[in-house]
Amino acid sequence: MLSITKRQDMDLTVNGEKRAVAARPADTLLYTLREQFGLTGAKPGCENGDCGACTVNVDGLPVKSCMVLTAEAIGHDVETVEGLRGQPIQDAFVEHFAFQCGYCASGFLMVANALQRQHPNAAEGTMTDWLRSNICRCTGYEEIGEAVRSVLGRGEQSDEAPKQAKKTQRPQPVGSATMHRAGLAEAKR
Ligand code: FES
Ligand code: FES
Repeated sequence: MLSITKRQDMDLTVNGEKRAVAARPADTLLYTLREQFGLTGAKPGCENGDCGACTVNVDGLPVKSCMVLTAEAIGHDVETVEGLRGQPIQDAFVEHFAFQCGYCASGFLMVANALQRQHPNAAEGTMTDWLRSNICRCTGYEEIGEAVRSVLGRGEQSDEAPKQAKKTQRPQPVGSATMHRAGLAEAKR
């Protein structure tokens, strides 16, 4: 019988590196990233799929890691904010003062990074749609929007066909109930 408390060896790919971990079947990806790998950029907020503070990218699309089991990430590419070093969106957040306390920032950065890859020239509506998945309790939405807008074709108001995610258009380990809102919006197009 499967034990939900017994740890099992699992291999994950995080920020381009193969990482071995002994995780319980019920461990969330958020828990494993933070407590096993020390990658604390993804933040525990609501832990209920609502706030987006825990957002990471799986196969190039944003996913709320509090709603994903570690085991579901096996065989997929997980990217955390620690893997974003040198990306323009980080400088854009600083330049546009797109955070106050900063608790939401890593989640928004991951959404923005995925959006930039999928829709480099996203129109305003597409950008707004994607950013709606995350919450900033300090209400810095205007600045966040300005930062993201600044890296999207420098304000062009056109959409181009979404680029294919690295392996799949949507991260397969994540069931519909746990799909990031941006992923849902993507699926509707
Ligand atoms: S912690 Fe709020 S959505 Fe994951
Ligand atoms: S800057 Fe504080 S929650 Fe967004």
